[in-house]
Amino acid sequence: MADEKEEKKERYKPFRAPKGVHDILPSDHEYHTYIKKVVRHRARQAGFRRITTPTFEYTDLFKRSIGDSSDIVSKEMYTFEDKKGRSLTLKPEGTAGVVRSYIQNGMNQLAQPVLLYYFEPHYRYDKPQKGRYRQFFQFGFEIIGESDPALDAQCIQIANKIHDDLGIKELFDLQINTIGTSEARKKYMQVVEDFYVGKERSLCENCKGRLHKNPLRLLDCKEEDCQILAKLAPTMRDYLDKESLEFHEELLEYLNEIGIEYTENEKLVRGLDYYSKTVFEFWDKTEGAQNAIGGGGRYDGLVELLGGQSTPAVGYAAGVERVIANMKKEKIKVPSKDELHVFVAQLGKEAKKKCLPLIEDLREAGIKSMGALGKGSINVQLRLADKFNVPYTVLIGLTEVREGTAIIRDMEKGIQETVNYEDVVDRVAELIGEDALDKYTPGELLYS
Ligand code: HAM
Repeated sequence: MADEKEEKKERYKPFRAPKGVHDILPSDHEYHTYIKKVVRHRARQAGFRRITTPTFEYTDLFKRSIGDSSDIVSKEMYTFEDKKGRSLTLKPEGTAGVVRSYIQNGMNQLAQPVLLYYFEPHYRYDKPQKGRYRQFFQFGFEIIGESDPALDAQCIQIANKIHDDLGIKELFDLQINTIGTSEARKKYMQVVEDFYVGKERSLCENCKGRLHKNPLRLLDCKEEDCQILAKLAPTMRDYLDKESLEFHEELLEYLNEIGIEYTENEKLVRGLDYYSKTVFEFWDKTEGAQNAIGGGGRYDGLVELLGGQSTPAVGYAAGVERVIANMKKEKIKVPSKDELHVFVAQLGKEAKKKCLPLIEDLREAGIKSMGALGKGSINVQLRLADKFNVPYTVLIGLTEVREGTAIIRDMEKGIQETVNYEDVVDRVAELIGEDALDKYTPGELLYS
C-alpha cells in the first residue's frame, strides 16, 4: 500500500523546467516589454529594421563563423539531428544567422549599409550560474555593408544610449581594443603560441587544451596564474597592421568627439572567431568581464566566409537577463500597464446578463476590466476584488437589475455610490481619469 502510494507520488511528481532555463513570469515580462520598447525606439531613430532569424540553423553555419575552437562551438552548442540525419543547432548567438540571411536574401542589392536589429532567445550549454543561463535573450544590432570607424562609433553610441535609457549606463565600463586583420592576427597567434610553449605547467587545464588551437584566448583567461603569464606575453599592438591601427585611432577620435568614455584594453580578444579590427565589451564596474552586459565588434571577413561577397560589418549584442538583473539591482521600476482598473461583481443570473455587455463597454472605453463570473457570494467576490488590487468594483445584484442601476465601489476608501446602469462607463472613466485609460487599439491602424 505504502509502496503504491510512493510509486504514484513518483509517477506524478511535478515537472520542473530543465536546468539552466526559466519562465519569464508576468512581472519580468514588464521589464522585457520595456527594454524591447527602448531598443525599438533607439533602433528606429537610427534607421535599423527588425529581423528574426530561425531558432535553429545548420550546425556548420555556427562552426564556420564562430570557429571550431571557440568555447561556444566546442562545448556550448545544443546540436541535434533531424529525421533525415541533418545536423542542426539552436542558435547560440545572433550574428551568424543575420549574415546568413543577408546573403540568402540578396540584401547586398539594398542601399548599404543594411541596418538590422533583433530581440530573441539564444541557447548555450553553459554552466548555469548568476547571469549565465542555457536560454537567454539578447538584443543586438548589425550594420552590414560599410567599413568606416564612424559606424563602429555609431554602434557603440546606440548601445550606450540604450544602457542610459534603461538607467544602468553608469554601472558599466566600455573596454575596447583592436585585434587587427585576420592575416596580422595569424602572425601574432604564432608569436603567442611560441611564447607559451614550454610554460604549459603554469597554465590552467582549460588553457593547456586551447594553447595550440586558439592561443589568443589564453590572454584573457580569468585564472590568476594565467593572468600573470598573460601580462608577460608579447603585446598584440606590436604585430598589428598599420591600417588596423589607424582605423582604431580614428574610432577613438570619434568616441572622444561624441563624449563616450572608454578604457583601452589590449588584452581584450572576445570569444568568437569572426572579429577583425574593433572589439569591445561593456564590463561590470565591480565584477569586470565576468558579468559583461554586452559585447561586439567588427567582422569584416564573415560575409565572405559564409559564401557572400567581401562585405565589411560591425555589430553589438547585450544580454537581456543581465540588463534586468542590473535594473533591479538599481531598484529601477518599469511602468506597468497590466494592472486592472475595475472588477465587475454580480449576484445571480439576471445580473450576470447585465454584466457581460457592461464589461465589454468598459473595455472598449479603455477601462481594463475583469468580471467575477463565477458563482461566489458578493462577499467572496469583493474579497477577490481586493486580491486583484483593483481601485474600483462595479456591483450588480438583484435590486440593481430591478432598478436599472449599478453600484460603484471605491475599494481604497471603502465608499460606494449608485449610478444608472447607462452611466456606469462614463462615471468609471471619470473616476479613473482620461490619462489612465488604455485606448490603444492597433486594429484601427490597419489599412489596405
Ligand atoms: P557575446 O559576448 O557572446 O556576443 O554575447 C553578448 C551578451 O549576451 C553577453 O555580454 C551577455 O550579456 C549575454 N550572454 C551571453 N551568454 C549568456 C548566457 N549563457 N546567459 C545569459 N546571458 C548571456 C555575441 O553573442 C555576439 N553575437 C555579439 C555581436 C553582435 N557581435 C557582433 N554583432
